[in-house]
Amino acid sequence: MKALILAGGAGTRLRPITHTRAKQLVPVANKPILFYGLEAIASAGIKQVGIIVGDTADEVRAAVGDGSAWGLEVTYLPQDAPLGLAHCVLIAKDFLGEDDFVMYLGDNMLRQSLQGFVDTFEAARVAARNPTLGGGASDAPAAQILLKHVPDPHRFGVAELDGLGRVVRLVEKPADPPSDLALVGVYLFDARIHDAVAAISPSPRGELEITDAIQWLIDHGYGVNSDILEGWWIDTGKLTPLLEANRLILETIEQRLDGDVDEESRIDGRVVVEAGARIERSTVRGPAVIGAGTVVRDSFVGPFSAVGANCRIERSEIEHSVLLGETSVVDAGRIEDSLLGYHVSVGRSDQRPRATRLMLGDHCNVDLA
Ligand code: TTP
Repeated sequence: MKALILAGGAGTRLRPITHTRAKQLVPVANKPILFYGLEAIASAGIKQVGIIVGDTADEVRAAVGDGSAWGLEVTYLPQDAPLGLAHCVLIAKDFLGEDDFVMYLGDNMLRQSLQGFVDTFEAARVAARNPTLGGGASDAPAAQILLKHVPDPHRFGVAELDGLGRVVRLVEKPADPPSDLALVGVYLFDARIHDAVAAISPSPRGELEITDAIQWLIDHGYGVNSDILEGWWIDTGKLTPLLEANRLILETIEQRLDGDVDEESRIDGRVVVEAGARIERSTVRGPAVIGAGTVVRDSFVGPFSAVGANCRIERSEIEHSVLLGETSVVDAGRIEDSLLGYHVSVGRSDQRPRATRLMLGDHCNVDLA
């Protein structure tokens, strides 16, 4: 079993952060989203991993390297343009060969381990190959998809199942959903998917859709099984889900104070203060993480905040927010539900006339109090 991680794409929904950064490397609780996926793949016992990379290839390569930090062997597979999830399978054909593989969207996060999901697929395939169990190779499922009950299925790819949990139809963002089962960004395939991705045509939005490829398998009589995900799953590609992922991961941290906390400061609950960080005359209320080299002075950092490395927070309040790093927030009042990129400066000046003065890049979003 190999893994194919998709870490290319355009990331339009997370602009302006993705103008300059790979969205898969945006940190959640101060760790890149992609690393959670690599950990999940490594702990499912998979070694050989292909990573699809696009415009941000250099950044992904610099962060992941050869994969040895996770015990993985990583091969980078450049994609010239984000032509769709099925296009990623098409260009990974030589890397994947005849092997079964798990395809993992590099900006997705899920709580449940992949092991059970992989085991179910392999068990169904072994059973199908075993004549004493009444099977034949052609009965082996060609794919297994992961599904999640959601309250708003019209926003997702949705599966319709038969009574045995086999997929009979997939529909993309249906106005009238046949079920509340959304496709989660993790898929298992055998080599028959290569015929499917080669046979389908681009969708109206110009992409080779993985839902069309899976529908092709179903239409050609190949079995597509499903598994229902327990626990949370988040497609982090937009601000609100990113903050939600941050909240869910922070819920699981334990207190660790490696940095300096002065006597006039208060640490409430599960807070990580990394080595080299300093908390002066401030309150940090967990769950929260304060990155290495960051200074928090005369401030309040509230629950569900992840402050990256080398930031400066002075005479300000921050809650339920992510600061990526090297960012200063000084005399800024109270900031909530926010995502600040690298090298951002939020401050106040005495300059007259009193006014809000902004220098914002493309696709920024400002909500004034
Ligand atoms: P999406 O979030 O569906 O697409 P996107 O990255 O282009 O984002 P947006 O819609 O905001 O513009 O992609 C899911 C994952 O797959 C993500 O990690 C990017 C990756 N991907 C590729 O590697 N190649 C592709 O051709 C596409 C479409 C996505």
